Parts: sequence; C-alpha cells; structure tokens
Amino acid sequence: MEKKRGTFSGGLGFVLAAASSAIGLGNLWRFPYLAAQYGGGIFILVYIILALTFGFALMTTEIAIGRKTKKSPIVAYRKISEKFTFVGYLAALVPTIILPYYCVIGGWVLRYIFVYVQGLTTEAATDSFFGGFIGDTFSPLFYFLIFLILTTLVVIAGVEKGIEKASKILMPILLVIIIGISVYIMFIPGTLEGIRYYLVPAFDKFSFKTVCAAMGQMFFSLSLAMGIMVTYGSYIKDDVSLTKSVNQIEIFDTVVALLAGFLVIPIVYAFSGEAGLTANGPGLMFVSLPKIFAQMAGGRIMGFAFFMLVLFTAVTSSVSVMEAIVSSLMDRFKLSRGKACAITIIVSIILGVPSSMGNGAWANIKILGMDFLSFFDYLSNSVLMPLVALGTSIMIGWVVGTKTVTDEVTRNGEKFGRKKLYEFMIKYASPVLLIIILVVYSLAQFG
Ligand code: PFF
Repeated sequence: MEKKRGTFSGGLGFVLAAASSAIGLGNLWRFPYLAAQYGGGIFILVYIILALTFGFALMTTEIAIGRKTKKSPIVAYRKISEKFTFVGYLAALVPTIILPYYCVIGGWVLRYIFVYVQGLTTEAATDSFFGGFIGDTFSPLFYFLIFLILTTLVVIAGVEKGIEKASKILMPILLVIIIGISVYIMFIPGTLEGIRYYLVPAFDKFSFKTVCAAMGQMFFSLSLAMGIMVTYGSYIKDDVSLTKSVNQIEIFDTVVALLAGFLVIPIVYAFSGEAGLTANGPGLMFVSLPKIFAQMAGGRIMGFAFFMLVLFTAVTSSVSVMEAIVSSLMDRFKLSRGKACAITIIVSIILGVPSSMGNGAWANIKILGMDFLSFFDYLSNSVLMPLVALGTSIMIGWVVGTKTVTDEVTRNGEKFGRKKLYEFMIKYASPVLLIIILVVYSLAQFG
C-alpha cells in the first residue's frame, strides 16, 4: 500500500504555499537589479505583459498536470505522455541544480542579518566588504549550511505541517515589513525622482535583450519550468479552483516584485543616481543598499528589517525547490521523505561547495568562462528551463491536446476565463518565443 499523499488543507493553503514559493530572492534580489539594468519602467512593462500571457499559460498547465496526475514531475509527465518522460526528468533536474546555489545566496542573506545585529553598518558599506565575505572560504560555507538546514527542517515536517504552516506564518510578516519599509522610504528626500525613474517606461531603452531578461526573470520568479508547480499542484484537493488560484499567485508575486523594486531603486537613485543603480549588477542588494543604510538615520534597524524580509522569502522559496526534488525521489523511487531529504542534502552540498568556493579559493576554475554559481544559474535559467517549458508546451499543445489541461481546470464546472488566450499561448506563442530565446541565448554564449 502506498502511503497517503500529503495535501494542502484547501484553496487558501495552496495559494499561500505557491505564492511563498514564487516570492523569493527572485523578487527581492533579482527583479530590482534587472529593472535597474534594463531601464526601469520599460522592463516592468515587458515583464507584466509576459507574466499575464506566458506565465499565466505555463503556470496553469503545470498546476493542472500536477493535480490531474497527483504526482511530482518525473512520474507526472510520464502519466500524461510516455514519450515526454524525459521532460519530467529534466524538470526534476532543474531544482537539483538550483537548490545548492540558491542556498549559497540564502547564506549571504543570513550573514547580512548578523551584520546589522552586530552593528557593522559602516563596515558593510565599504567596497571590499561583500567581495571579502563571499571570497572567504569557511564563513560563506558555514552560512550556506545553516540555510540548507533551515530549509530541510521545513521540508522534513511535510506538506501541511511544514510547508503550509511556514507560509501561513511568514507571508503576513513579510507583507507587514515590506509595507513598513515602503512607507518609510517615501519620506526620504530625493526618492521621488527615483520613483519616476523606476515607474515611467523609457521606450528608447527597449530591446530584444529586455524581452530575454524579462522572460528569464518570469521563469525564475514564478517558479516555472522546474517541477515546483507540478509538485504543488499534486497536493491540491480536487475542489479548489485553479484559475482563481493562478490569478492570485501571479498577482501576489508581481506585486511583491514591484514593491521590492520600490524598496531598492528609489533610494539608491536618490543617493547615487543612475550610475549607482547599474554599477554593481547583482550586487545591488548586497553592495549598493548597505551603503545607503550606512548613510541614513535608523539604517541599522532598516538593514536588519530588510534582510529579515529577504530571509523569510528566501526560505519559503528554497523549501519549494527542495520539495520538488524530494517529492520526485519519493514518487519515482518510492523512498521515504527522510531518505529523499538525506539524498538531496548530500547532492546540495556536493554542488553547493563549488558554488560558494567559486567566488574565492576556486575563482580561477571556469566553466564556459563562468564561475560555478554563474554557470549553474546560466544552465538552469537560460538552457534547461526554456527547454522544459518548450517540452511542456509541445506535449500539451501538439501531442495530447490542450483539452487535457482545460478539462482539469474546469472539472468542477468553473469558467476558464482566458481559455482562448491560453490555447494560443501554449500552441503557438510559447514554442515560437522559446525557440527564439534558446537560439539567441546559445548564440550570445558561444557566438
Ligand atoms: N520563485 C522563487 C524566487 O523568485 O526566488 C524561487 C525560485 C525557484 C527561484 C527556482 C529560482 C528558481 F530557479
């Protein structure tokens, strides 16, 4: 007899868990620096359009596949179409590659919380602080391990008692902190100009690169094409409305990304102009923001509150990345949750150590010209995720038919509001766009 599958208690439990999977480092760390790099408002506009069309179609598909099969990706794709079993394996491989480096970055966040607890506000604002920390050998590894353990504790506790409960507690705290900091920021002199830079689209900054960056961000931020939504979908009860849930998750995730940009961009702009926004790229959160915390009144408390916020969102997201792996191992190889967690931890340490050391002692080892962390990020976001999304679109759009999904969505007699848009996206727009993006990415890499 198979053990009874864990489930979320209901619609709200699912939406909160899925939203807290989606809301993570992608929103707080990645979205602001990409928006800053790609011209503020114009990036936001492209991102929102993609999320409402492409993101909506893929998320609906993944959740429906999960609920229909009641399995995580490896078995789920096989049940939908034997020929596409390999896409299921790919979908399970993506979180396996992501979890280690996600935990490395989560470890950096942990370190910054202690920076503000210890009152190292001024030290953290120096140019060498961040590089010095991630270039060290033991300290980042130590924080990486703590972050991995925090994630594992929630996953071990299971679907309802661990994942759903953590989301229900942490999501409201997150919203309170985010709104508190936003209000505070509006009262800092000079931020209005920054808000304008952030929100008003400058159409002359639009390029094909903007679309590629926004697309990669959409996969990352909505936790798509990596088995997570299939896995979480497999834990939903049959009477929950999928269309309503997808809308709520998308709105939640996009609102938090927009707010995160609002927390980061206007103050950096106010203190150091456009150059300050683009100078550090991915370092925006770890390098530019601490400089500002050091200059403002109450900066130590702001810094602490900000990085606590980032930590909460990062943990609930890495939990979902780990759950997708653990659940795949449990379904495919009939392992217990404990054993599946143990295997996942071992693999994460094996891949996490080079991801961390690649910024320091192993910095001279390069794969395709990249350090380990950047390589894993590139491999997952730019190669494997578009491939999984492409495989999923072809399987549903051209092999088994969109009816497989639309029937699941309307199984309780719900109306499928944007059904025509859905069918168009999965059959035509999504494969075409994905092929273009895959070709352009590989040309950019090797050309
Ligand atoms: N969607 C979450 C985030 O934005 O941080 C979690 C996540 C999962 C991010 C998988 C990236 C990723 F590849």
